Amino acid sequence: MSQSSKPLLNTLNGERQPTPPVWMMRQAGRHLAEYMELRKKAKNFLNFCYSPDMAVEATLQPVRRYGMDAAILFCDILVIPDALGQAVSFVTGEGPKLEAISDGEPLPEFDEAMLHDHLAPVYETISRLSESLDDCVTLIGFAGAPWTVATYMVEGGSSRDYAKTRSWAYQNPDGFQKLIDLLVDATASYLARQISNGAETVQLFDSWAGILPPDEFDRWVIKPAAEIVKRLRASHGDVPIIGFPRGAGAQYPAFAERSGVDCVSLDSTLPLDWAAKNLPAGMAVQGNLDNLLLLSGGDVMDQTARDIIDAFADRPHIFNLGHGILPETPVAHVERLLAVVRG
Ligand code: CP3
Repeated sequence: MSQSSKPLLNTLNGERQPTPPVWMMRQAGRHLAEYMELRKKAKNFLNFCYSPDMAVEATLQPVRRYGMDAAILFCDILVIPDALGQAVSFVTGEGPKLEAISDGEPLPEFDEAMLHDHLAPVYETISRLSESLDDCVTLIGFAGAPWTVATYMVEGGSSRDYAKTRSWAYQNPDGFQKLIDLLVDATASYLARQISNGAETVQLFDSWAGILPPDEFDRWVIKPAAEIVKRLRASHGDVPIIGFPRGAGAQYPAFAERSGVDCVSLDSTLPLDWAAKNLPAGMAVQGNLDNLLLLSGGDVMDQTARDIIDAFADRPHIFNLGHGILPETPVAHVERLLAVVRG
């Protein structure tokens, strides 16, 4: 296999790099002063996501400041419900708000042309990024996984226990399946379009995968991911896919084996030796420093980062956090972590 000039893309293609390439989930955003400056100019958060000038700039800020090995598209997982007609708003300090949908109500129709029309500014952002990034930086597109996006659509926002969504899935699984199928269609189509506009890999964020028992995990997390992967393989067979079933614990190996993704992104709760032993040999992994340890910094952070690198020394590894950077994180801690990872 011929090596490209992109260490992160090479890693995803199964070629372990001497130094693990590194990026950090939520690397763009509120921990950066330059982001806060830019944020002031946006009418609201979704408008920011749909303004290519601003979204390109926000994507590039962490790459410029830190020299990350990847640029992740600046956008949000909730643009999918928004594009499907379920209006989304972000209230500062309160998180996202949607008008909740329930079992028994008609679902939004999937109109592919309308979806792409609504998301055209996101594709524009990607194609501009793909022209402006340095040769060594990998451009990552992303979407929320159907289960996680469904929780926001059903709960109407963030939730502590996702009780409405889980009850719907238990009480009327065939009805809930229709919502998941709609999200599989929309997500697969959205990611394919991101790739045709220049995304070199895509990550599927299943932030709330970890609350499901095994049978539900199989039906609502693994199967939808496998279907999305299958469709992307059919249209863009050479583009690697990263799956992030956050909190999946003992179900990580099943996800890694059966979803078809090329790389699994690990949260911070997994014992390193267990993960190294139980994930398929040779499979690329990404992760998994605790975001709170990055916020705290210090020698423990340095040592834990080294332990993570050692644990995955015999497989392709991308260094990352176990979840997104927290807004209070000092820039100096990110710089120090990068220095540790890069030796
Ligand atoms: O990683 C990046 O830098 C790219 C951009 C990105 C954002 N959201 C920007 C954002 C990505 C990859 C996401 C993913 C996302 N969004 C997830 C999955 C990953 C995860 O963290 O679990 C989820 C669950 C969401 C939904 C979401 N978006 C919530 C719950 C919130 C409010 C709480 C919060 O963290 O702010 C958002 C808002 C959001 N998305 C912000 C940013 C920079 C903050 C908005 C602001 O600047 O006011």
